[in-house]
This record gives sequence, structure tokens and C-alpha cells, in this order.
Amino acid sequence: MFWLGWISRNLRDKQNTKRILDIGSNIFWLIGIASNYEVDMVDVRDHPLADYFPFKMTIGDAVSLPFEDNSFDAVTFPQLLHWMGTAAYGREIDVNADHAVLSEIARVMKADGIGLFITFVVPGSGVFKIGGRRLYGIEDLETTIRRAGLKIVEIVYYSPTFQQIPEGKLVAPTGRELVTGNPDEDICWAFLKVAKS
Ligand SMILES: C[S@@+](CC[C@H](N)C(=O)[O-])C[C@H]1O[C@@H](n2cnc3c(N)ncnc32)[C@H](O)[C@@H]1O
Repeated sequence: MFWLGWISRNLRDKQNTKRILDIGSNIFWLIGIASNYEVDMVDVRDHPLADYFPFKMTIGDAVSLPFEDNSFDAVTFPQLLHWMGTAAYGREIDVNADHAVLSEIARVMKADGIGLFITFVVPGSGVFKIGGRRLYGIEDLETTIRRAGLKIVEIVYYSPTFQQIPEGKLVAPTGRELVTGNPDEDICWAFLKVAKS
């Protein structure tokens, strides 16, 4: 869960942050976050204890967020983007779903808002896996972010063993990550802070 610590620190460091949207949440983390901010949460899956959450949970799809333009000081979506359009979580295959999600995030973010997210990256070209996680090539990820009307403020890479690494040390997929249920141990991470361009 070390990536959620990075997101929490970035929220704390952003002045005047009041209203936050989290998409596809880690519930325990978000319950803590809700003690400091006004929080909305969106997920395609319901939760049996949603009535007890200290934030408003809405069932919805990130490709079409049920919020007004310019609503949030920060939008957090760790470990969401790489599932988009891959037919995971009962959704349809759609290679452009990540573009739709990032465009929606840009729309609901305030002019001085930030987006904070984590995804998986590989050197060179990415891998689009039906039913699994998409692994982004850096160029592909940067282009997708830019096309959605966002710019990268910060990008930090981590090894599968949580060491911060330069882009040149990203490791290629071994194929083990294709095995259903296999955790994240073979794949490098990108932690990103984005803003409206
Ligand atoms: C791997 S979990 C991420 C959990 C958490 N954000 C974290 O970093 O630990 C992905 C979450 O995204 C949700 N999700 C998947 N597709 C979605 C979509 N199209 N719109 C909204 N939520 C989605 C899933 O239901 C799940 O709760």
C-alpha cells in the first residue's frame, strides 16, 4: 500500500485542498482521508457497508463521471487506469477507455486542481491485455495524458521491490504478470501528478 502514502503526502502538500474525488477506492485509506477533506468516491462495484462510509459513494463508471465541470481540488485514482477498457470488472473491451477516463478527470478537476495516480510501466511499447492490466510504455502514457487535456507535473518510477529508479532502469515484462491472480512483483510502477494543460 506504499503508493497510497505517496498520494496522501501530495494531498497534504497541496494548499487549500477541500474537495476530493477518488475513483476505484481503497476503502480503509479513503475513510482516513475523509477525516480531512470533503470526499466523493465512484466505483463500478457497490460495497455492502457503503451506508456507513464517511464520504459519498456513487456507483458509476469513470468513463462518464456524474459530477459538474471544475468541481474538485484533487482527483485520486491509484491503480485504476491500467484496468480501463481491458474487459476487467465486467466492462467492455475499449482501447480508448483510458483516454475517456483521463478526459473526464480533466473536466471535473478545478483549474488549479491536481490528479494523482499510480499505474504500471514497461520500457518501450506497452502491452494491452484483455481481462488483465494494461502495461504502459512511457511515451504511450505521456501521449494519452496529453491528449486528454492534462500535463505531467511529476512522474516518479519505482521498481517491483519499491526502490525509486530512473526511467532507464524500468524492467521489461517477464510474462509472469499474465498469470491470473499473480500479484505485482514483476512490474515497475509510475507515480504521477498531473494538472490541466
Ligand atoms: C485494483 S482496485 C484499486 C484499489 C485502490 N485504488 C488502490 O489503489 O488500492 C481497482 C478499483 O477500480 C474499480 N473500477 C474498475 N473499473 C472501474 C470503472 N470503469 N469505473 C470506476 N471504477 C472502476 C474496481 O471496482 C476496483 O475497486
